[in-house]
Amino acid sequence: MIASSIACGLLALASTVSGTAHRSYLNYTVVKELFLQDNDTTVASTFNFTASNFGLIDRKYPSDSSYGRDLKHSTQWQRLAHYIDYINKKARNTERYALLFLGRHGEGYHNAAETYFGTPAWNCYWSELDGNATVTWADAHLTPKGIDQAKDVNKFWKHLIKDEKITPPETYYTSPMFRCLDTARLTFTGLNLPKRSPFIPTIKEYFREGISAHTCDRRSTRSYIHKNFPSYKFEKGFPEKDPYWRALFAETSKDQDIRSKKVLDDVFSNDDSTYISVTAHSGEIASLLRVLGHRVFGLSTGSAIPVLVKITTIQGNAPATTTQPFTPQKTCAVPPTIRDSSCNDCSCCT
Ligand SMILES: *[C@@H]1O[C@H](CO)[C@@H](O)[C@H](O)[C@H]1NC(C)=O
Ligand SMILES: *[C@@H]1O[C@H](CO)[C@@H](O)[C@H](O)[C@H]1NC(C)=O
Ligand SMILES: *[C@@H]1O[C@H](CO)[C@@H](O)[C@H](O)[C@H]1NC(C)=O
Ligand SMILES: *[C@@H]1O[C@H](CO)[C@@H](O)[C@H](O)[C@H]1NC(C)=O
Repeated sequence: MIASSIACGLLALASTVSGTAHRSYLNYTVVKELFLQDNDTTVASTFNFTASNFGLIDRKYPSDSSYGRDLKHSTQWQRLAHYIDYINKKARNTERYALLFLGRHGEGYHNAAETYFGTPAWNCYWSELDGNATVTWADAHLTPKGIDQAKDVNKFWKHLIKDEKITPPETYYTSPMFRCLDTARLTFTGLNLPKRSPFIPTIKEYFREGISAHTCDRRSTRSYIHKNFPSYKFEKGFPEKDPYWRALFAETSKDQDIRSKKVLDDVFSNDDSTYISVTAHSGEIASLLRVLGHRVFGLSTGSAIPVLVKITTIQGNAPATTTQPFTPQKTCAVPPTIRDSSCNDCSCCT
């Protein structure tokens, strides 16, 4: 004991003397063959996560023999929890595993409007406005359909907790956009959650959707969010006004991946939970999946995906990243009349 602590002290001293800062970074990989969604043969567009036990594959785990309680009368989720516990206990101190539940918000007024106007007219004209005479889609709220979708996911969680004995999230995060704040509320309120991990989400700016010129990507003020979701916590330094959204400019998807990595690094550096819920957006979850090394898996409104992540601390400097400036977004003076999505660059103005 004494010898090793002296050795550590000397090592620490040596590295201070030589002036080499002790750098490390986090790297993510997906543990596959646990969920249908991580299998390349699973078709995302027709996949129904509530009809398939969240995609959890019926299988044996190397940890089953040490399950302890009656294996035959256990659920797949209970055995998975034991497996995750087992691999975490066996892991080196530079490794850990966490199960992420990534949920997309239910249908918002911006989604309904895109369907109504068609993608070219939406992207090149309507999405840059706050709404029309009857509907507001700036920081869109959920439509009645979106509310029902979130309530269905709430029922599904009730079933998972009661019948499947799933381990519910220990911590909750959400994008600052209203549709996500509200989806998280509808999804996780009224569940039989453990006392030590109540539903008190933390709002994190970098879980927001890819920032486009669309007004649905401009968040409301901190005071407005607080007024509507008084029990939610804000991450440190969350400003009153949206510091990122810029009229007629858009974040690049490379930049989005850089900040998705940053927000995951922030979560995994400050939260030692193993079960973590994130409520976000289709584009943002796609970005998180890229950063985690998961295959592409598109989520319809109100859908969620579980991902078991291996988090590795690697010694040395993180690979360099360079953020790019926002790019200008072209628009049309009047809505284009074509309806198919072949007009991504708004070259079809009429
Ligand atoms: C993916 O699913 C297919 C079809 O069910 C199966 O044959 C294959 O073994 C799976 N692959 C992996 C890596 O689990
Ligand atoms: C998914 O499955 C659930 C439960 O089986 C069902 O109630 C729901 O309608 C299905 N959703 C879709 C979009 O088919
Ligand atoms: C406004 O847009 C919505 C689409 O979300 C549409 O249903 C509604 O009819 C539009 N209102 C007017 C006045 O055009
Ligand atoms: C980091 O993770 C990615 C997959 O997400 C993997 O391809 C890569 O090899 C990992 N890097 C290191 C240094 O382990």
